[in-house]
Amino acid sequence: MKFPEGFLWGTATAAHQVEGNNVNSDSWLLEHMPGTIYTEPSGDACDHYHRYPEDIALLAELGFNTYRFSIEWARIEPEKGEFSQASLEHYRRMLVTCHEHDLTPIVTFHHFTSPRWLIAAGGWEDKDTPDRFARYCERATRHLGDLIGAACTVNEPNIPLLFSKARLVPTPDGQEPAPWQQAAAKALGITVDRLVPFIFAGSDRAVETILTAHRRAVEAIKSGPGDFPVGMTLALQDIQAGEGGEELAARMRYAINGVYLENLRDDDFVGVQTYSRMRFGPEGPLPPEEGVELTQVDYEFWPEALEATIRYAIDVTGIPVIVTENGIATTDDTRRIAYVERALRGVSNCLKDGLDVLGYTYWSAFDNFEWMQGYRPTFGLIAVDRETQERTVKPSARWLGAIARANEL
Ligand code: BGC
Repeated sequence: MKFPEGFLWGTATAAHQVEGNNVNSDSWLLEHMPGTIYTEPSGDACDHYHRYPEDIALLAELGFNTYRFSIEWARIEPEKGEFSQASLEHYRRMLVTCHEHDLTPIVTFHHFTSPRWLIAAGGWEDKDTPDRFARYCERATRHLGDLIGAACTVNEPNIPLLFSKARLVPTPDGQEPAPWQQAAAKALGITVDRLVPFIFAGSDRAVETILTAHRRAVEAIKSGPGDFPVGMTLALQDIQAGEGGEELAARMRYAINGVYLENLRDDDFVGVQTYSRMRFGPEGPLPPEEGVELTQVDYEFWPEALEATIRYAIDVTGIPVIVTENGIATTDDTRRIAYVERALRGVSNCLKDGLDVLGYTYWSAFDNFEWMQGYRPTFGLIAVDRETQERTVKPSARWLGAIARANEL
C-alpha cells in the first residue's frame, strides 16, 4: 500500500501532557484541589519543555516527517495582556529544531489548558473569550508564523459533549458541583457557576463561544506571517446504532460531531481524532459489545473507526482531512502495532477512493499525562521513566517509523 507523495507521517503531543510544570494553567490548579478527580498531578510530565531537542531528533531518526505539538497559552500570556517574549522564543526554538530535522511542525494553539486568568474571567462561556483567544493567536503567529507548517486552533471542543453524552463523566446538568470544583472557583475568586475550563465547556453557550473563538482565531492566524493551512481538530468516535438505536445514534452523531463539522466548511482542513466507536441503543449509550477486546482506557479495540470518521468528516465538510490523533492505550505493544496497521488500512481505503487525506499523526509520541487518569494509560510509541525521564523506544515506534520512511504499508 503506497501513500501519496508528501504524505505527512508523525506523532502528536500536547504541551500540558508532556512539558511539565505548567503551573499557570487551569489544569494545574484543578489537579491540586483537595478531592480532585485527577488521580495525580502532572508534575514534571516528560520534561519535554527542556528535553525537546533530543525528543525531536529522536522522532526524526525514527523516520517521521511531521510533529504535531501545542504551544501553551498559559506560558505565552501568563497574565491578561502580558505576553512572555521568552516563552515565544522557546516555541520558536522548537520550530527551528523541527525544521533542522526536516519535520513539518503542526502547531495546536490550544490543547485543553488555558491560563488561570482566563478562567477567572469566565472562561469558555464568557463573551469576551473569542477576542482574548484571537489576540493570543495573533501575537503568537506574529512571532512564530513563518516557521509553522499547519495550525490547529483549538483541540476537540466537542470532548465535553462526547463525555457527557457517553456518561463517561457525570453530566454537570442539575448536579451539585463537587467540593473540589467549589474550591477551584474560590481559588480563582469566582462563583462555581462561572467555573468553565475548556474540558467542561459543553453548554450551548460554551459551544457558541468556542466556535466563535475558532473563527476569530483563523482570521488572526491568517494575518501571518506564513501561509499554511489552518483548521480545528475534533474527537470523532464512530457513532453506531445497536438494535433499535438508529434514531438516537443519528441524533448523537449530529449533536457530538455534525454541529461542529458543519461550521468548518470554510477551513483548510479538519483534524480527525479517533480512538474507537460508540454505540447507542434506543435508551442511551450501550456498554462495550461482548467479546470485543478493551484497551487500557476501556475503549473497544476498534481501529476501523478511523476510516468511518474520515469518510463522515469529508462527507459533511468537503474539506481535506489530517488525522491529527489516532492511537491506543495498551501495555502490550504488539496490540498497538495491530491497531495501527488496521487503522492505516482504513486510511488507505479512503485514499483509494480519492478522498483527500493529507497525513497521519499517532497519539502519542510519549507515554504522558493522560489528564484525569494520570500516568497509568500508556498511549506512547516511546516509554518514559517517571523517575529518570529516560526514553525507551518501543517496537511500535520503529515499525511505524519504517512505514513513514518507506511511505508504504
Ligand atoms: C486528546 C488527548 C488525549 C487523547 C487520549 C484526545 O482526546 O486530544 O489530549 O490524551 O485523546 O485520550
